[in-house]
This record gives sequence, structure tokens and C-alpha cells, in this order.
Amino acid sequence: MGSLELVRLERPRLAELDELAAYDEEAFGHTGLRSFDIGVVSRAGAVFLGQVDGVVVGSCQLLRTWDEPGTFWIFGFYIRPGWQGQGFGRELLRGVMDEVLRVDGSGIVMSVSPSNRAALDLYLSFGFRVVEEIVDFYGPGEDRYLLRWDSDPEKNEVGRHA
Ligand SMILES: CC(C)(COP(=O)(O)OP(=O)(O)OC[C@H]1O[C@@H](n2cnc3c(N)ncnc32)[C@H](O)[C@@H]1OP(=O)(O)O)[C@@H](O)C(=O)NCCC(=O)NCCS
Repeated sequence: MGSLELVRLERPRLAELDELAAYDEEAFGHTGLRSFDIGVVSRAGAVFLGQVDGVVVGSCQLLRTWDEPGTFWIFGFYIRPGWQGQGFGRELLRGVMDEVLRVDGSGIVMSVSPSNRAALDLYLSFGFRVVEEIVDFYGPGEDRYLLRWDSDPEKNEVGRHA
């Protein structure tokens, strides 16, 4: 099996949006993004696909934050079930972090369920830190940790680890 190639989704067709919305639902259930959301983000921000041998095995979205344009929000980050546990999550995250740096971004935030050990371990191993716990972030019972990473290593030392 090949390594993961990072591809930006540009001017997607409805069929592509529907396919990605189905993968999102598979990964996140009712908190997954819909075709509409993915279409907007592909133009207002960026949607990245992780492809292996031409097959979409994972994806995520990036938006610049309003209050802090040097900081990007990464969301909808997943590797499809049949491709998990083979290092592709690590490759996808490294790829999108490189993209943030390439466009002069200096910070990344994302939200993670406190019970999602696999995702937390992945992000903490890249130097993300938990900066806040937000109750009912995506609706009742959908609490999330807010994680943050800064390109300035001094800032990353402040904060706590889950
Ligand atoms: C979280 C997720 C993206 C990880 O992707 P992956 O391709 O399986 O991860 P990798 O194989 O690249 O592993 C990277 C690291 O993740 C962590 N990890 C992955 N699977 C894990 C598991 N089952 N238990 C604990 N840690 C795990 C480990 O730290 C691992 O590093 P290691 O192999 O050196 O121990 C994937 O499980 C996923 O898409 N889950 C469903 C959607 C989701 O929860 N997305 C995150 C939302 S914030």
C-alpha cells in the first residue's frame, strides 16, 4: 500500500460532497458535516483529502479563525475505518500542519471529545495541548476539549496535557 497523498478539494461536484458527507457521518454520526457545510468550507477555507493509491481514505477541513487570522481551526479530521491504525492519521495531520505553516499560519486549534483516546493521543504526540474543556459544545452531552498548537515552541509549553 502506498503512502498518503494530501490533495486539496477544489470546486467539488455535488456527488463528491455527498460522498464526503457520507464518510463524515460514518466517522462522527450526527455531529458530522453535511454536503452544504463541506461545499462552503471548500471555498471559504480548505478541504483536504488524504488519498492512498487514488482512494480517499481520510479528510479534514481548515478555516482561519476570525479573531486571530494566523490561527487555523482544523475540524472533521478522520481516517475511514478500513484504513485506521496504519499511520495515515499521523501522515494526514503532518500534511495539514505543513500546509498551515506554508501559508504563514502560526497556530492551530481543534476540538476533541474527552473520551476519544486515539485522537487525543495522536494530537498530544504532535505537541497540541488542552487549553479548555467546553460543556455541550456540539449539543447536549457533546462536551469537547479545545486543543491548541503554536509554531512558537515557547507558547506550547504553557497549558496542560490530558
Ligand atoms: C483518530 C484517528 C484519526 C487516528 O487515525 P489513524 O490513522 O488510525 O492513526 P495512526 O495509525 O496514524 O496512529 C497515530 C497515533 O494515533 C494514536 N492512536 C491511533 N489509534 C489508536 C487507538 N486505537 N488507541 C489509542 N491511540 C491510538 C496513537 O498515538 C498513534 O500513534 P502510535 O501508532 O505511534 O501509537 C482515527 O482513529 C479516526 O478517524 N477516528 C474516527 C474519527 C475521529 O475520532 N476523528 C478525530 C476527531 S477529533
